[in-house]
Amino acid sequence: MKEELYQFTYKIYESFTELNDEDKMLLKTAQEASLTSYAPYSDFHVGAAARLANGEIIQGGNQENASFPAGLCAEGVVMAVASSRFPRVPIRTLVISYQSSRTESNHPIAPCGICRQSLEEFKAKTGSPVRLLMGGMTGKIIEVNDASSLLPLAFRF
Ligand code: THU
Repeated sequence: MKEELYQFTYKIYESFTELNDEDKMLLKTAQEASLTSYAPYSDFHVGAAARLANGEIIQGGNQENASFPAGLCAEGVVMAVASSRFPRVPIRTLVISYQSSRTESNHPIAPCGICRQSLEEFKAKTGSPVRLLMGGMTGKIIEVNDASSLLPLAFRF
């Protein structure tokens, strides 16, 4: 038997003003994309924006359904659109944000477990890590260089 340690580092920006211009623009796009969300059941409107390796920007919002499990996360929408329009082109950076009457949008949210699994496979199929920025409408932003580090021991076969 041996024991292994799993670690990853992440960065915390105190506000969007600390981001570079490209990331600022992508965060703004993700914030705006939360307006394209259809979330009448949760009233939690998530927006995501990706900058692809070819320079294209893809944005999307979560899309819910009366049959709750049929709902799509914003990250899933963006990954599906990116793959459909530009197959096998890596996502360089993915930004997520949100707004809701349930909570103030002043702290970062992180991708759900299913999206982490999908992000992991996005890296596998394109051969490039997805850099992830997690934010809200205001407040801190968390950066992870490789979204796959959020899912140790990911499922694969
Ligand atoms: N949601 C996302 O769009 N992304 C996440 O990473 C977490 C959750 C959506 C799903 C659902 O429509 C709403 O947020 C509340 O869970």
